[in-house]
Amino acid sequence: MSTPHIAAVPGDIAQTVLLPGDPLRAKVVAETYLENPVCFNTIRNMFGYTGTYKGKKVSVMGTGMGIPSIGLYTHELIHFYDVRNLIRIGSCGAITPDVKIGDIIMAQGACTDSSYAYQYGLQGSFSAISSFDLLRRAVLAAEERGYAFDVGNVFSTDIFYKEQPLWKKWAQVGCLAVEMETYALYCNAARATYAYGDAGAGHEVKALGIFTVSDSLVTGESTSAQERQHNFTNMMDVALDVAVQL
Ligand code: HPA
Repeated sequence: MSTPHIAAVPGDIAQTVLLPGDPLRAKVVAETYLENPVCFNTIRNMFGYTGTYKGKKVSVMGTGMGIPSIGLYTHELIHFYDVRNLIRIGSCGAITPDVKIGDIIMAQGACTDSSYAYQYGLQGSFSAISSFDLLRRAVLAAEERGYAFDVGNVFSTDIFYKEQPLWKKWAQVGCLAVEMETYALYCNAARATYAYGDAGAGHEVKALGIFTVSDSLVTGESTSAQERQHNFTNMMDVALDVAVQL
């Protein structure tokens, strides 16, 4: 079996999948951290790999950028490949002065300017939240390692190049950072967990977004490639500490 976008057979993909935006990052993560990584997808170069980490079967796959892209890949992972734990490992831009470049952000919730949740027919807005279990494990892992991190809301936007600096408004309701995917990830996990009767639904699907702050919209700073790599390594430590427990 293969889906329109993933050429794997069930069993090729672990129950826990790490999700960078960049498919080449997925390749690097697989080659750097996983033992015996096997590539399960090359459709559209959206590389996915499965291997083991400290004996635990773990997959890593790119999502592409933006809500439509992560929306479709995680839908297929959940509904066709029975993936239960989805951990986005991404980058984000700080929108408050309290958040520093290189910090780790854990998205307790995600706000959005996207219409993604309109599909559910809710006569209101949906608050997309992370798995408390994954969040708790990630917090404990980061504390144990002594890494600086913040937990809170992020703003998942559809628009990278904005006409107006709308991120300021989102900062004023407490969003810490801007990125472009997590809202859809959390929607898909909630929908699969609670929409009983749908194919593949009715069991708990857990999702968490963890990010390194790559730039600041407040100060205009951005990270060098070297800093990005260092900060990325800390985020990976946390994500893998969580993955190995699941
Ligand atoms: N905007 C949107 N997404 C991002 C940014 C940003 O400034 N930085 C990292 N991901």
